[in-house]
Amino acid sequence: MNDVLELLKTRRSTPPGFLAAPGPDAGQLASLLEIAARVPDHGKLAPWRFIVFEGEARERAADILAELTRADRPQATAEEIANERKRLTAAPLVVAVVSKAAQHPKIPVSEQILSSAACCQNLLIAAQAMGFGAAWLTNWFAFDRRFLDRIGLAAHETITGFVHIGTRTQAIEERPRPALADIVTRF
Ligand SMILES: Cc1cc2nc3c(=O)[nH]c(=O)nc-3n(C[C@H](O)[C@H](O)[C@H](O)COP(=O)(O)O)c2cc1C
Repeated sequence: MNDVLELLKTRRSTPPGFLAAPGPDAGQLASLLEIAARVPDHGKLAPWRFIVFEGEARERAADILAELTRADRPQATAEEIANERKRLTAAPLVVAVVSKAAQHPKIPVSEQILSSAACCQNLLIAAQAMGFGAAWLTNWFAFDRRFLDRIGLAAHETITGFVHIGTRTQAIEERPRPALADIVTRF
């Protein structure tokens, strides 16, 4: 089997808690973003953009998570706040895939959002092809307008996913996949 097929047949997400430094270097990151932008895109709208969180920027994003958690749950313990912070600091690199989907005379909004999902999947596959682990997550803050405003999303923009990327610290056990007999029919 060729390498691409082998990669696709074995791809597995790695949760951020099992992703450590080193993350991709500048050249690898540029390749990842280029690959993320090479997705099916009806009408050539590029209805997505990417926000990179690396190094100290992750800490600033985590500060926002801590602030919102304290506001929503004044009784939250120091450990609970620390756990919320880790959601954006565990992996050395997090790429937010932002959907810019907007009404268009010909291209449905749903197709534009699906195109941004393809960006996330391309990032997962490319990161694993480079030897990294990766995970596509949303988490509560992907839907929290206060957080989205603070990281610079416009009112009509949404998060399709945060793709966490880093070096795997341990192998992740296989996850059951649906049997083809359960999901495939012939017309
Ligand atoms: C849009 C989207 C959002 C997701 N958000 C989360 C999440 O917030 N937390 C989580 O544990 N898994 C989330 N997942 C699932 C993981 O990305 C992943 O698919 C799952 O852990 C299984 O791993 P696998 O990719 O090896 O099948 C999400 C998946 C998608 C497609």
